Amino acid sequence: MSKQLILGIETSCDETSCGIVDTDFGVHANVIFRQETFHTKYGGVVPEVASRAHLEKISWVYDEALKTANITHTDISGIVFTHGPGLVGPLLVGATFGQGLAFSLGLPYEGVNHLEGHMAAAFLEDPTLKPPFLCLVVSGGHTELIAVRDYFKYEVLGRTRDDAVGEAFDKSGKLIGLGYPSGPKVSKMAELGNPNFVELPTGMAQKASLEFSFSGVKTAFLRIVQEHDAEWVKENTVHLCASLQYNLVETLIRKCKAALAQSKLPHMIVCGGVSANLRLRQRLTEMCHENGYGITIPRFDYCTDNGAMIAGAGVLRYVHGGLACTSRVQPSLRFEQSSR
Ligand code: KG4
Ligand code: ZN
Repeated sequence: MSKQLILGIETSCDETSCGIVDTDFGVHANVIFRQETFHTKYGGVVPEVASRAHLEKISWVYDEALKTANITHTDISGIVFTHGPGLVGPLLVGATFGQGLAFSLGLPYEGVNHLEGHMAAAFLEDPTLKPPFLCLVVSGGHTELIAVRDYFKYEVLGRTRDDAVGEAFDKSGKLIGLGYPSGPKVSKMAELGNPNFVELPTGMAQKASLEFSFSGVKTAFLRIVQEHDAEWVKENTVHLCASLQYNLVETLIRKCKAALAQSKLPHMIVCGGVSANLRLRQRLTEMCHENGYGITIPRFDYCTDNGAMIAGAGVLRYVHGGLACTSRVQPSLRFEQSSR
């Protein structure tokens, strides 16, 4: 089959993005409008503000993607868009735009799972990647270990009982004045600090359990900050960041190691915004190499929310069975619900 181009639209949270990816997973465009500055003053994403910003920017982002790829709409063979999980207003903007475009161009379309999109980022990194593999999704809203034994066969091995790991980074960082979203800032500061400065608890520490819990570490971090004055917190920010990052990363490493051993999967991928964390990337790579597992980590541009990863999920669906021409916006859509 000659190469076809798939358009992917991402609007599940606060990035308005369109990506264009060919059926060999080559990325032709990945235009991202980040709404961060709209939400910074509120200390988090305001759904209504995000919906309006998506509405305002989506056409521009689409036009820019066509320009970047140096194509016109007649060169596109299929359209996919995130239909969950995410914020309902933002999801509706992308889904309506995507379906409208598909209807007007007479193209096949499909609503895809945002988490399958994150997973597909690994195929953009390595187009030769094939299941079976273990998938660790770590983002602002999700922390999940998925066994992918074949295309679209998603088995959840474990997920968080409470907060996502990205939330633990963001909320703890916010507490010590690093603003929103603070994950990238915490990780930068952590490079200069002592990871053993304070001891933090590990949730769901039992060896065999593949479930996560990050609410305890968040509360313990809050207590430590409350027990000291602002001066102390300021002086020790880098050490607090290093201790937090050490705790969160080592928990992820332990669970991945256990999941690989239990599932007997030979390879793993890591995806989602937190996979941009340098320490996590290094430690996961070390753990896999030491234990004889393969690992694929998408480049930084494909870790946080973007349209190319959604287009990548579209390519998987287009190539393996075709686009279903269905969509239902579902804010709480789970990974396994997108199994085929
Ligand atoms: O996947 P994503 O862009 O959006 C969601 O689907 O949630 O992930 C965003 C999350 C935020 O919690 C952000 O703080 C975190 O990814 N993040 C990081 C880093 N870069 C982004 N966390 C730790 N270290 C980083 N370098
Ligand atoms: Zn995401």
